[in-house]
Amino acid sequence: MKEAIQSGARIYSKPVLFLYDFFVLQFSNSLVWKCPSKKLLDLYNQHISANHLDIGVGTGYFLDKCTYPSRPRIALLDLNPNTLEVSAKRICRYQPEKYQADILKPISVKPRFFDSIGINYLLHCLPGDISNKEIVFKNAKSLLNKNGVVFGSTILGDTSQANFLARKLLAIYNTKKIMSNSKDTLQDLEAVLAGNFRGYSVKQEGRVALFSARV
Ligand SMILES: C[S@@+](CC[C@H](N)C(=O)[O-])C[C@H]1O[C@@H](n2cnc3c(N)ncnc32)[C@H](O)[C@@H]1O
Repeated sequence: MKEAIQSGARIYSKPVLFLYDFFVLQFSNSLVWKCPSKKLLDLYNQHISANHLDIGVGTGYFLDKCTYPSRPRIALLDLNPNTLEVSAKRICRYQPEKYQADILKPISVKPRFFDSIGINYLLHCLPGDISNKEIVFKNAKSLLNKNGVVFGSTILGDTSQANFLARKLLAIYNTKKIMSNSKDTLQDLEAVLAGNFRGYSVKQEGRVALFSARV
């Protein structure tokens, strides 16, 4: 299991992160997953607060492009030191806090509570099916203020309506364990949100589930 967890984060070397915005956020999101990054930016703009924790930060693209309600406290949490370094540099104007940690384990962040937590494109990197990934929501919940929101998106494993490129990429990524989402379904995600939060919203855009949930 430890090996699988690390492979969902290990791929993010500095050269991969250099290509990430173009290959994932521009090319793949529009043409492969059929969920343009503008939809994900809209999700950030809808839910981001001025006291925000982002988990699984990648290049920090959305944290850089989104609009905050006021000057924010931003905390970055990731297993991979490269993504922490690259994203922190990108948004250095906000003087972000950095935490290197595995979100599948209990998390210690001080000061502890946030008004929003982003987990964008994180779940599909984690091993197992959605029930194995429920711990992410439980850990995130433990760091949220009352009325706080957790939001994000994840690529689903269902290939029934996927185009040729999506099928190919899903197969390659799952074989290499860059993604582990072949069993991830919208129904399972909805059940986990319903079981852990007071209110939630989930919808599908192309191959991607977009969600938000409040404690
Ligand atoms: C696909 S990237 C998403 C980047 C960014 N959120 C975005 O939407 O563009 C997944 C991120 O999750 C991180 N990650 C993978 N497994 C993790 C784990 N177990 N704990 C914390 N971060 C993890 C990776 O290092 C990477 O930064």
